[in-house]
Amino acid sequence: MNKPIIATKLPLVGTTIFTVMSSMATEYKAINLSQGFPDFPVSEELISLVNKYMKLGYNQYAPMMGVKELREAISEKTLKLYNVNYHPDSEITVTSGGTEALFAAITAIVKAGDEVIVFEPAYDSYIPAIELNGGIPVCISLKYPDYKIDWNEVRNNISLKTKLIIINTPHNPTGAVLSENDLKELTNIVQNTNIFLIGDEVYEHIIFDSLKHHSLMTVPELQQRSFIISSFGKTFHVTGWKTGYCVAPKQLTTEFRKIHQFLTFSTFTPLQYALAEFLKNPDNYNGVPAFYEKKRNTFLESIKSSKFTFVPSKGSYFQNLCYSAISDEPDTDIAIRLTKEIGVASVPISVFYKDKTDEKILRFCFAKEDETLLKAGEKLSKL
Ligand SMILES: Cc1ncc(COP(=O)(O)O)c(C=O)c1O
Repeated sequence: MNKPIIATKLPLVGTTIFTVMSSMATEYKAINLSQGFPDFPVSEELISLVNKYMKLGYNQYAPMMGVKELREAISEKTLKLYNVNYHPDSEITVTSGGTEALFAAITAIVKAGDEVIVFEPAYDSYIPAIELNGGIPVCISLKYPDYKIDWNEVRNNISLKTKLIIINTPHNPTGAVLSENDLKELTNIVQNTNIFLIGDEVYEHIIFDSLKHHSLMTVPELQQRSFIISSFGKTFHVTGWKTGYCVAPKQLTTEFRKIHQFLTFSTFTPLQYALAEFLKNPDNYNGVPAFYEKKRNTFLESIKSSKFTFVPSKGSYFQNLCYSAISDEPDTDIAIRLTKEIGVASVPISVFYKDKTDEKILRFCFAKEDETLLKAGEKLSKL
């Protein structure tokens, strides 16, 4: 009997490092600062709201584009924060997390042979999504310590085939954020071209030291060609709820929704009503930067006598530490050793580069209870 053999569409994709490091953290009872998820409680009010809407009977399919109340709340928040008006009916779509929105936006835009500019280290879903659509990722490396974009290098990598540029600010895994000048440089590059943009802004509310989040939507030339993606999972410490959204001009949203409706059709209904009500109080998101800045500072204070060197994270809930004064092991080896011997799990940065660039950097997630961060800092300081 002949069994069919599946020809993989993603030959380079295996088990992700997050799964590997997290299961190793469990096996060795290590403090898990590898995967990016908070370990503290979620707002009681938000939990009660979800419960309320479940009990009220909002348990069937939501509309494909998301419930009206939530789309309206997103529109109001976007206007208040960035002074940009997106129409709830035709320009806002609620998605099953940022990852789904990224896949839908990439699929809406990229055709076989199109080139997509990706900055590395890069969130791991971009390249598989591009390749599944027959696109060609054109990777540009950002370098430790400041991970700034070299816009001349971007210019040199633009070709007639460039269809899309993916921008992530605040940036995972480096904690870098785009400046106003970066947006000017990007504008100079894309104006008068047919290049689209994705603004992966899932950490828009996790930004420190009074820095401003420079959303792509704040520059009209960028806004008109951008899909901008955010995640309630990040903003409200509920990564397991996998709820996010994409805002984009009408013509882009129309195509985005054609993909979204066949990926998931719609997203968890009672959550959407709960989030709509929760968003009415801006304190619920305005307090997020200070909350995470304190956590970042607690972690940095806890390792200040260690041999690690670092640039404080400017945004996201990740802090990169350079271990070159401690060891010259490859970053994947030391990440494993620290988990087994020291009891702290992290993520080696090389996994975020297609060519596995190793600059001796590990990523630590500080979205954890203060006690967890202090314990991790104590262990890391022994090295
Ligand atoms: C840069 C970046 N984009 C997108 C996502 C996906 O967000 P979600 O969990 O809402 O799918 C993540 C999650 O880790 C991320 O770090």
